[in-house]
Amino acid sequence: MPHRAYVIDQMISAKAIAARAEVLAREITAHFKGCDKLVVVGLLRGSFVFIADLVREIDLPVEVDFLEASSYGDAMHSSREVRILKDLRGEIAGRDVLVVEDIVDTGFTLHHVVNLLRSREPARLEVCALLDKPSRREVPIKATWTGFEIPDEFVVGYGIDFAQRNRNLPYIGKVRFTE
Ligand code: IMP
Ligand code: MG
Repeated sequence: MPHRAYVIDQMISAKAIAARAEVLAREITAHFKGCDKLVVVGLLRGSFVFIADLVREIDLPVEVDFLEASSYGDAMHSSREVRILKDLRGEIAGRDVLVVEDIVDTGFTLHHVVNLLRSREPARLEVCALLDKPSRREVPIKATWTGFEIPDEFVVGYGIDFAQRNRNLPYIGKVRFTE
C-alpha cells in the first residue's frame, strides 16, 4: 500500500487508560465473583496490550485464550465479512467467558464472534471493549463494559495499528494525514 504521511495526535494518555482499566477490572471481578476460573478471550491482534493490563487487575483465577477474526479488507475500511483466522485452544461450554476487544466500530466483528462463542453454550459471556465508536455502528451490539467512547476518528496505539504500525505506542492517538 502506498503510504501517505501522517502524524499521531494523542487522544487518551497511558495514565488515563491505566486508571480506566483498573475500574473496569474491579467491575469485572465483582460481576464474576465466585467464578472458579474465568476464561478471558483476547481478540487478536489489537487487544494484546489491553488484555495484558486488564488481567493483571482482575482478582479472580483466570485462563487466557485468543481468537483471531479478520474483518478489515484494507487498513482503514471494514470488509463486513468476518473470518476466523485462529480459533480458541480451549473449550468454553459451561464456562464463564470474558471477550476482550480493542475497538467496536461497525460492530460486525464483535457480532460475529459473540454469536460464534454463544453457539458453544458458555455459562456466561460478557464483553469488555477498550474503545467504542458508537456513531459508526451498523450492527446493533454493545459491549458489557466499555473503556472510552470516542468520535469517528482512526486511532492507533496501545495495541491498535494502522497497517501494522504504531501498536507499540503507550497511549491512544488519532491519525492525522499531513499530505
Ligand atoms: P468492526 O467489525 O467494524 O466493528 O471492526 C472492529 C475492528 O476493526 C477492531 O477490532 C479493529 O481491529 C479495527 N478497527 C476499527 N476502528 C479502528 C481504528 O480506528 N484503528 C485501527 N483499527 C480499527
Ligand atoms: Mg480487532
